[in-house]
Amino acid sequence: MELKTVQAIAFSSMSAGIIPPEFIRSEKEQPAITTFHGYIPQVPTIDLSDPDEEKLTRLIVEASSEWGMFQIVNHGIPSDVISNLQKVGKEFFELPQEEKELYAKSPDSKSIQGYGSKLQKEVEGKKAWVDHLFHNIWPPPAIDYQFWPKKPPTYRAANEEYAKWLQGVADKLFGRLSLGLGLGEGTLKESVGGDELLYLLKINYYPPCPRPDLALGVVAHTDMSAITILIPNEVQGLQVFRDDHWFDVKYISNALVIHVGDQLEILSNGKYKAVLHRTTVNKEKTRMSWPVFLEPPSDQVVGPLPQLVNEENPARYKTKKYSDYVYCKLNKIPQ
Ligand code: SIN
Ligand code: FE2
Repeated sequence: MELKTVQAIAFSSMSAGIIPPEFIRSEKEQPAITTFHGYIPQVPTIDLSDPDEEKLTRLIVEASSEWGMFQIVNHGIPSDVISNLQKVGKEFFELPQEEKELYAKSPDSKSIQGYGSKLQKEVEGKKAWVDHLFHNIWPPPAIDYQFWPKKPPTYRAANEEYAKWLQGVADKLFGRLSLGLGLGEGTLKESVGGDELLYLLKINYYPPCPRPDLALGVVAHTDMSAITILIPNEVQGLQVFRDDHWFDVKYISNALVIHVGDQLEILSNGKYKAVLHRTTVNKEKTRMSWPVFLEPPSDQVVGPLPQLVNEENPARYKTKKYSDYVYCKLNKIPQ
């Protein structure tokens, strides 16, 4: 059976200039009505190469506590490593449909890995204007090359190279975030599985949409991960929710967008905030993004770090296995 994708729907709706009704958001969600214009506060941009280590820690802590999101520049990943990752991902999505379907997620598969379109209905029965590919990129025992495209032939090398560089950035962020909690530099990384920390790559592919005023790419959510490290392409689309408004997150060439996810909020007992975000789509251009979710292994138990909990500061979150957390979130069971 042929997979129904947004890419195919986009192709057929373009000439008509209309979109199927299940993509039209309620007025509470429509980007044209709910995006804030005027003075736009920006998520912080942080220079990761700053030699003033105390200042660097302070900036990361402030951004993670106040926004739950920031962009990093001078992160050490060469720009050609980033552009190669983008190039091979784009080439994959531009392949004919039947080539992409070789990597399709089977409907009964428990694993999230594979190519697909989350065309099941979500909140209020609406659908998201996006297709995706998921596969793990680190650590080696978690990699299943069956889900890595063989076309273009450089896909694998480009992804392996990015995974290699990304670890340095992840370690640095976890280190700073641990120090910011008054803990040893290695504490947070250990609490999310140490060397078993999973790097799950998602490629989001948002085809041009004839009615970007009415549809959404990814609907408002916080990430389940500890941290998400994201590369966007140059098409504007990521929005962050703050002080009751949706704001555009400015595209900065070569920057990495860091999201605080639910697990980091839990471990820090609420000091760091998981960021509520969503994406809009574009009338003429294809938007793409490459988030990597840094997730604990599924049997890792995660809860507020005991060092942060005392009589004055009781635990604000339950302690549970990561797989149980995911199950509750996906099935909308209160945590
Ligand atoms: C996401 O939150 O899954 C997507 C973010 C983006 O495309 O920028
Ligand atoms: Fe997200």
